[in-house]
Amino acid sequence: MQQPPLSANSSAKRRCVLICQHRSCMRQGAAAVLSAFQAAVPQGVLAVASDCMGQCASGPTVRVMPEGDWYCRIQEADVETIVTEHLESDRAVRRLLHPRFHPIED
Ligand code: FES
Repeated sequence: MQQPPLSANSSAKRRCVLICQHRSCMRQGAAAVLSAFQAAVPQGVLAVASDCMGQCASGPTVRVMPEGDWYCRIQEADVETIVTEHLESDRAVRRLLHPRFHPIED
């Protein structure tokens, strides 16, 4: 079945937050992080469980799509900041970004 066309607004900004729920991240509190995102994301943003994203040593791992930004070592207490700054104000939270994918600039 053919999908209806998306409006200009809905396609470009539709966001999804992926929260790893695999073993290493779960040991570091990823279940609480997922619950906190699901309770706090703005309307229209999905917060969903993901499988391992290959960054197990620095979990819990979170990605914001479609930007593809990586967050590492996220705890429940960080969720409100990511929601307020990244999802509501379009400013990634630099101090929480994964340095492997977002190197700190001098
Ligand atoms: S277990 Fe979460 S990134 Fe691998």
